Amino acid sequence: MTSSSLAFQPSEAVQRVERTSLRTAQPQSRGGLISLAMGEPDFATPPRIRMAAAQALEDGHTHYTDPQGDPELRAALAERVGGLKGSAVTPGQILVTHGGSAALAAAILAVVNPGDRVVFPDPTYSLYADLVNLAGGICVPVPLRPDLHWDLEALAEALHGAALFVFCNPSNPTGAVHTAEELAALADFTADSGTLVLADEAYSELVHTDAPFVSALQVPGLAERTLYCQTFSKSYAMTGWRLGYLAGPQEVIAAAARVHVTINGSANSAVQRAALTALNTADADISRMRQAYGARRTLMLDELSRVKGVHTRTPQGAFYAFPSYDASIRSADLVRHLREHGVAVRPGSEFGAAGEGHLRLSYAAAPKDIVEGVRRLGRGLAALT
Ligand SMILES: Cc1ncc(COP(=O)(O)O)c(C=O)c1O
Repeated sequence: MTSSSLAFQPSEAVQRVERTSLRTAQPQSRGGLISLAMGEPDFATPPRIRMAAAQALEDGHTHYTDPQGDPELRAALAERVGGLKGSAVTPGQILVTHGGSAALAAAILAVVNPGDRVVFPDPTYSLYADLVNLAGGICVPVPLRPDLHWDLEALAEALHGAALFVFCNPSNPTGAVHTAEELAALADFTADSGTLVLADEAYSELVHTDAPFVSALQVPGLAERTLYCQTFSKSYAMTGWRLGYLAGPQEVIAAAARVHVTINGSANSAVQRAALTALNTADADISRMRQAYGARRTLMLDELSRVKGVHTRTPQGAFYAFPSYDASIRSADLVRHLREHGVAVRPGSEFGAAGEGHLRLSYAAAPKDIVEGVRRLGRGLAALT
């Protein structure tokens, strides 16, 4: 069938996303290129989780599950989220989703009406803006301070009358970990309002701070209005398995479940059984990978400190560094130029206008690639001047 006779226009929702999306397709990799561009662990999923999936298939977990999630998995997640929150959470407050991405989609499409204002930090994970545009909402990006933390004054102002605030902690792309004080300020700004908060804590197990990580669920005043979004992708190295979940007030979860079951149906049943094994047995695997990322972070910071004209704040979580650079070239052009020098990184502008002048480098890469990749970045920058 040819498409020439088809007077097809994508829906307005799709056109809105296409017009505004900052997400860039990664160009084809050619031989010899070192990639520090990826957003996923380079580790394989731990063997015991893989074995649990194989066993689940053998045991007949090949059918649809409960649309809101495997009851045993939901009970385990409710217990886990309740433990974090410090008060009981019921399985009805949990929705198992196709990765964190579908949890974010279900939450945003369940909450945002056309014309609603949705606030998020700038730069941040670029999926949020696309989902808000899909829903017909109005994106209100609030630029970060130069230290990559929230500008509280600007945030307070932007939050007036907002339907939703979306953020990730630790942050992709900055690697910043937002503090208990920042979260308490957010609770203050949203007190006595109808504003909901979508806290995407995809990288919460990958934190290198001395102080323990503080979840939005642990902050009085914030927990009650928080939709908590989590994924098995990053902490368990399970990106390809596509499993995540959403937790929050029962009526909001019911609305999100309506979206998720309409678009996705139930999540993969064998994968949900494997996720139960991940939750119950894989803590040691998480610490092993966290330690490895910690060493690679040090290595990347060390290498970056030798590159002239590049300034890096120490990332505290996730597996990204977000250096700024002195050269007067747009980050997307710089990324193209650096590929010619054999290294792939992401432009800061992919994460918001305020990300311009930065690059995002992933240290979820082999140590030798981190060393050689950053050296190539240095050579590429030097070649500009
Ligand atoms: C901050 C953040 N949230 C959510 C996701 C979605 O992950 P997944 O759909 O694999 O669970 C990602 C992936 O890069 C991410 O960086």
